[in-house]
Amino acid sequence: MRTIFLHLHPARVNETAIRFNRTFGLGGMAALLIVVQIITGVLLRFFYSAVPAEAYNSVVFLKNEVLFGPFIRNIHYWSGVFLLLIAFFHFLRVFLTGAYREIRKVNWLFGLVLLVLIVFSNFTGYLLPWDQLAYWAITVSTNSMGYLPLVGESLRVMILGGKELNAGTLQTFYTFHTAVLPLLLLVLVLYHFWRVRKAGGILIPATTEETEMVPVMPNLVFREFIVALVLIAVLFTFAALFNAPLLEKANPAYSLNPTKAPWYFAGVQELLMHFHPFFAAFVLPISVITFLAWTPFLEYNEAPNGHWFISEKGAKSAETTAKFAVIVTLAGILFNEYVLNFEMLMSPVPAFLSNGILPLFILLGFMAGYYRYFLKKLNLSKAELIQAVFVFLIVAFIVLTLVGIFFRGKDMALTFPWKL
Ligand code: HEM
Repeated sequence: MRTIFLHLHPARVNETAIRFNRTFGLGGMAALLIVVQIITGVLLRFFYSAVPAEAYNSVVFLKNEVLFGPFIRNIHYWSGVFLLLIAFFHFLRVFLTGAYREIRKVNWLFGLVLLVLIVFSNFTGYLLPWDQLAYWAITVSTNSMGYLPLVGESLRVMILGGKELNAGTLQTFYTFHTAVLPLLLLVLVLYHFWRVRKAGGILIPATTEETEMVPVMPNLVFREFIVALVLIAVLFTFAALFNAPLLEKANPAYSLNPTKAPWYFAGVQELLMHFHPFFAAFVLPISVITFLAWTPFLEYNEAPNGHWFISEKGAKSAETTAKFAVIVTLAGILFNEYVLNFEMLMSPVPAFLSNGILPLFILLGFMAGYYRYFLKKLNLSKAELIQAVFVFLIVAFIVLTLVGIFFRGKDMALTFPWKL
């Protein structure tokens, strides 16, 4: 056991680096959840059958007839959800402590790949129960892929193995979900860990580098053990209390209303309600991904200092930007829904202009105004400015996702689930 831990960790670690509030143990939790996913996934495979005629019934059998079947299925479901959330929080913590730059930039890129792989692991798993929820969520998500220019439709047909969901789609998703993606995840996580060690451990504030070095055992390993136990306890409690969803068997002739994409794509689906599909499904997501991948390679005036939000000024600009992003996103959604719909108003004008370029320019105008009248006055460094853009994008994405999940009802109209 000692050797295993010493392969993953150095023999001595900086006392500051292992404080809980440095990392919140998020990377370690993500790694543990991948292991839980694989173990429970292997157990589920004993009963699951990946052909449309049998898939649904095999899940029902597992639920009703197999000892601990529902519990294992629930753990698998919830650990997938937790993994996405925890990897997302880890990604936020890495960015907001400045650990995405310099010696860590390649690891940041591999981290982004890991995040995409986790999304696709969840996505491919979503189809497997072959119930109404799975069938229609995957149908709307793959339909939006068709909006990509030039290659969109061919890509959709390639992924589905036909014009619509069929037995081949289930086979492909099953192979990716149970073999290709877990293998890639395992290999990349090990590489990710190796690069953390190669960078000399995690980034800590420059002023604390002199703090004491302590043996990894028990100092770090004991803390990891506690975090792992708490995570497992929370996961098992969720699995005992809340069942993974299973509606009736998939029926291609009868669509659900509303037909929603899986929750992690609800933000993109919400964007599709407001922007021309070319912008919602292509321009905006690709711009955000490019921004995330490109930021470590910019020239900055100073090295990352490892402090949360860089400085007090950085924290202030991040806080105000977060509020600005909530207001602009909510106001944009409500305005487009209830006050003015550019596409309808300017109906002879191609939707590409009225519902694409025009709202995009309005949004950029708001951002430019915010920069000129607020951010510029703070005289931010380049890293603080990039951080403000990051915060804007993340908060806007979270607001869109929450609206898509909780406030879209029948026919995807805005609804308020709770009486106000
Ligand atoms: C399967 C998902 C992932 C696992 C298992 C994982 C695991 C870890 C672990 C254990 C660490 C050490 C410190 C910590 O616990 O925070 C770490 C650090 C790091 N991770 Fe991840 N990670 C994952 C995804 C990501 C993502 C999505 C990103 C960003 C796009 C990322 C970027 C980084 C970087 C740059 C570091 C170095 C941070 C520093 O030096 O402070 N990782 N990761």
